[in-house]
Order: sequence, then structure tokens, then C-alpha cells
Amino acid sequence: MGPGRVRHGSGDDAVNKITVPAFRGAKEKGEKLAVLTAYDFPSAQAMDACDVDAILIGDSCAMTVMGRRNTLSMTMEEMLHHVRMVSAAAERALVIADMPFMSYQVSAEQAVRNAGRLVAEGGAEAVKLEGPPAVFGETITAIRNASIPVMGHLGLTPQSIHALGGYKVQGRDPAGRKKILEAATGLDDLGCFAIVLECVPADLAAEVSAAVSCPTIGIGAGNGCDGQVLVMHDILGWGFTSFTKTYADVKGAMADAFRDYVADVKSGAFPTEEHAFQ
Ligand code: KIV
Repeated sequence: MGPGRVRHGSGDDAVNKITVPAFRGAKEKGEKLAVLTAYDFPSAQAMDACDVDAILIGDSCAMTVMGRRNTLSMTMEEMLHHVRMVSAAAERALVIADMPFMSYQVSAEQAVRNAGRLVAEGGAEAVKLEGPPAVFGETITAIRNASIPVMGHLGLTPQSIHALGGYKVQGRDPAGRKKILEAATGLDDLGCFAIVLECVPADLAAEVSAAVSCPTIGIGAGNGCDGQVLVMHDILGWGFTSFTKTYADVKGAMADAFRDYVADVKSGAFPTEEHAFQ
């Protein structure tokens, strides 16, 4: 039945809700975790019904849904808007909200207030923030002290895109490897319930996964992680990243449907009597 579930409700429609402890506990049981991003009600509802373990409302939303060049401009209000839609749909999956750029970097107090908003106003069950414990240790502790579970994010951290100089694989040189390994054990010690490893060499991701007690969730980090996360639009044919796998050409199917509709309207084939009131 997957990562130790708590049953909600009763009878046939009871939901095996995935809690933070259940998600974390999957690693001990040797169960891989499947995470996807979603940003709206219908997408979240569809994946919630398909046994996805967690839904991340990533700030990738700024690029995939809003058409922006990077994630930096996503605001708290915009994030809350999308978190509400996803949490309204998710009955089973754990709902994790990304903390937008500049919603947690200023102070631990600012971070607790904004993490609290994502939970109280948005309905998220956990938050994710990017960066090492040397910078965000106090912040992570403060958020956890407010009883809000925190997911870490290391490797390619897109909110640091300007400092990193682009969307590049991280941890290829010995110093970079050491930095990521130490940061991961630091986040684990701080009590992060999971750590996203983005765009790091597969052998480093495997080494980190063996070194930490919490699950690592890889994206472009190979098969040695305890779970995987992908951006929904990537697996459905939009292909924003090179390391993704296309599971269905939804983009192509949408284009076909739009083209057929336009052709039907122009030719008079739509509507027919069955689409009209008599
Ligand atoms: O914003 C996002 O979608 C993310 C994932 C890529 C992990 O942070």
C-alpha cells in the first residue's frame, strides 16, 4: 500500500492520506517516492488519483504557467493563489508549497510568517526552500518550531540563478561535491523531512542519499535518489528541461483538438443538433 498511510474517512471512499511522517518513513521501507509539480485544480486532481506521493506547487509555475524567464518574480500572493487550487484537489497526496524568492531570505521571522500563510491560507502541509544550512539553518529551525515541516533543496537552486551564472549542473568538482554533501547532512540534522537534489551528478546524489536519514528527491540527479520529482509540463510534452521523460504528448493533443475545433467551426461541422438547444 505504499509509504505507511493514515486512512481518512471510512468505507469504500476512505483516502490513504500521505502525511509528512509517512513520506519520510518511505525511505526506511525502501519504497521510492514519486513527486510531481502541479499548479491548478484539474491537474492536481488527476495526479492525486494516480498514487503520486506528493504534489509540489513549485515556483517553476512562473515559467511553465506564467511564461516568465525564470522563477524569481513569483510573489507570495501568486503562490498562495496556486497553492489554494492544488490543496482543494489533493485528498491523498502530500501538498508541498515552494517558498517564493524573497519570501524567506530577509529574516527567520519573515520566513515563519510566509510559511505560515502557505499553510493557513493556502492549505499546504509543508514548505520547500532553497539553500544550505550555513545560510538558512536558523530560518529552517524557526519554521519547524512553528510546526511546519520543511523540505530542503540543494544542487541547482534556481532562485540563485544569477549567482550561479546559469542553469548548470552543480557538484562536479571535488569542492562542489563536498559542499553539497555537507549541506545535505546539515539539512538532515536540522530536521528537514526530505531534500530535493537538482542537477547534480548521479554518483554524488547516490552518496548523499546514503549519508542522510531523510529521503532525497532527485530531479536530473539519477536513480540513486530515494524518489524523483518532475515538472508536470515537462512530462506532458512541453519539455522545459533536457533530462525529463515525455510520458504523453498532451501539448500535441491540445494542438490537434484546437485545430480540429477551428476547422469544424469554419466549415460549419460544429455545432450539430446534439450540441444545441431545441
Ligand atoms: O519549482 C519547482 O518546480 C521545483 C522542482 C523543480 C523541484 O523546485
